[in-house]
Amino acid sequence: MRSTVSVIKADIGSLAGHHVVHPDTMAAANRVLAEAKRQGIILDYYITNVGDDLELIMSHTRGELDTKVHETAWDAFKEATKVSKELGLYAAGQDLLSDSFSGNLKGMGPGMAELDIEERPSEPIAIFMADKTEPGAFNLPLYKMFADPFNTAGLVIDPTMNEGFKFEVLDVYEGQSVILNSPEEIYSLLGLIGTPARYVIRRVYRKADNMLGSVTSIERLNLIAGKYVGKDDPVLIVRLQHGFPALGEALEAFSFPYLVPGWMRGSHYGPIMPVSQRDAKATRFDGPPRLIGLGFNVKNGRLTGPSDLFDDPAFDETRRMAAMITDYMRRHGPFMPHRLEPTEMEYTTLPTLIEKLKPRFKKEEDVAKAKPSVYTSKDQGMD
Ligand code: F6R
Ligand code: MG
Ligand code: MG
Repeated sequence: MRSTVSVIKADIGSLAGHHVVHPDTMAAANRVLAEAKRQGIILDYYITNVGDDLELIMSHTRGELDTKVHETAWDAFKEATKVSKELGLYAAGQDLLSDSFSGNLKGMGPGMAELDIEERPSEPIAIFMADKTEPGAFNLPLYKMFADPFNTAGLVIDPTMNEGFKFEVLDVYEGQSVILNSPEEIYSLLGLIGTPARYVIRRVYRKADNMLGSVTSIERLNLIAGKYVGKDDPVLIVRLQHGFPALGEALEAFSFPYLVPGWMRGSHYGPIMPVSQRDAKATRFDGPPRLIGLGFNVKNGRLTGPSDLFDDPAFDETRRMAAMITDYMRRHGPFMPHRLEPTEMEYTTLPTLIEKLKPRFKKEEDVAKAKPSVYTSKDQGMD
């Protein structure tokens, strides 16, 4: 049976700052999704949050970019925003860039990943959702899951995986993509995806039969709106087992708390911390960037689950290391490389600062000429 899992997310406002979604806004979204399920638009759904992002997980048989499914998500975000405004939650409706819905959600603010597949007899999937980072943050774990035999034993052991995978990489600045084959082209692949702000792994396919293995959201809000309007906090869906990464191989890719951009004011690098749903709130310095993982089975377009995948002491050391890296990075204060490079900072006073100081910048030769009058003996404290 052909079915689709659509994960659509938006920040529609949060409690006490950009840190956690309020349960009443989730209840409002729930009413909309329950009604859509009653009408048969979607077959199943699950609502959660990571930090300030409201995450709608919906299953149906209507394919990608379906008007009715997207309209349902839009209505859910709108209803949640109403509650957000009533409660005076912070940044109510932040990610909804348009007033009216037209056709689908592309370019309208919400981020989305849609997995459109012919279901296998058992279809296990994992959905990863992160806050305080951007879509390219999934490049490193996707590479590990689908191309690195030190992470994924199946690449060596499972004959279907042994042929390798194809990576569809999107240049988010130019809006064009390229397919690169692993293992033959891994150096070229790494050459691109090592620049995650620009090159994002959008989809991975299994080479043996072209089966879709993963889908990432690719929306970068600041590129859509042309200015900072909020975070591009990403989602990722991965198909598991039987020729795809085993659940444990997919999770293993997150055992190292690598650095991602997007922390505090969208302008700092920090370690990604995999947590349970319970701990999915952004606190210290608005972070550190959080990741949750939910495991489901899809059957006849219905969802069984979830299992809260990082709610596990096996990830305690990863979290502890992330906390140590948090301390280490924070001690750099406003200095790079904790702070992002100016072009990637979400919003910044740097251009105005440079403009303001422009008249006070002097050429080196003029400084030399002016020296006697500028640096008087008095200034040097020699009087
Ligand atoms: C937003 C975020 C936060 C905010 C910060 C300042 O998702 O990551 O770090 O950027 O809290 O927010 P404002 O400018 O709204 O006061
Ligand atoms: Mg926010
Ligand atoms: Mg967020």
